[in-house]
Amino acid sequence: MKVTWYNTIDSTNSEAFRRLPELPSGTVLAAREQTAGRGQRGNTWFTRPGQNLTFSIVLKYGPEALPALSASHAVWLNYLCSQAVALFLRSFGVLCRVKWPNDVYVGKHKICGILIENQLASEGLAASVLGIGININQREFPQLANATSLALCTDKDYNVELCLKQFLGFFEELLPQLFDEASRQQLFTAYSAELFRKGEWAHYYDVLREEEFEGVIQGVEADGRLCILDVAGERRYYHFKEVSYIL
Ligand code: BTN
Repeated sequence: MKVTWYNTIDSTNSEAFRRLPELPSGTVLAAREQTAGRGQRGNTWFTRPGQNLTFSIVLKYGPEALPALSASHAVWLNYLCSQAVALFLRSFGVLCRVKWPNDVYVGKHKICGILIENQLASEGLAASVLGIGININQREFPQLANATSLALCTDKDYNVELCLKQFLGFFEELLPQLFDEASRQQLFTAYSAELFRKGEWAHYYDVLREEEFEGVIQGVEADGRLCILDVAGERRYYHFKEVSYIL
């Protein structure tokens, strides 16, 4: 994988999309500083310059690139990225859980956010930009109550560029699993096993019904929906953005 480092860029995901036509599959754009880092649900991703990993991986499908991936398989990209982050963190002795669909938590604290953006073609996905922000050396998060970093978890500081190389090693090892049914199943099993709050009673907000409720996460369906059992015994199924966690 070819890595390009920027000192400053608005957002590595935005830059990857601007340069998409010229970038080969497997390109990684990493930034020491993002001035307009983007998060899920239109949020901003704030991190201190030089202290953390903020990067985007470009994947392309089709001739001279990766095998085809259908739009319905795009959900596997979440499993792939969060699993690679979990392996990376575990290599430092840090155990995490994935808050569906793809926030990575250590205890009650978020250590990594993932923003996956796809470009669709008529026959499936044309390209994906996997934007990943992993908190590495930052120890204070004034804007964020529930953030943590590798340094906070292990009480050590790290070389950020080396961390990216290590992460990409795990990512590259997992990538072929996307294109084989049996391996995809393994990826899914590993993802489901590490779900944040699985089996624990907690509070959620149901966006469609506009109500807060108490429930327990049962797991994730093959189509990527989250299943939560509520106190009345009903199993509720959610697509992304249809439910929020009350933390
Ligand atoms: C989230 O948790 O809301 C997702 C955050 C994703 C942040 C990463 S940092 C690298 C890439 N570039 C961006 O602008 N966003 C993603």
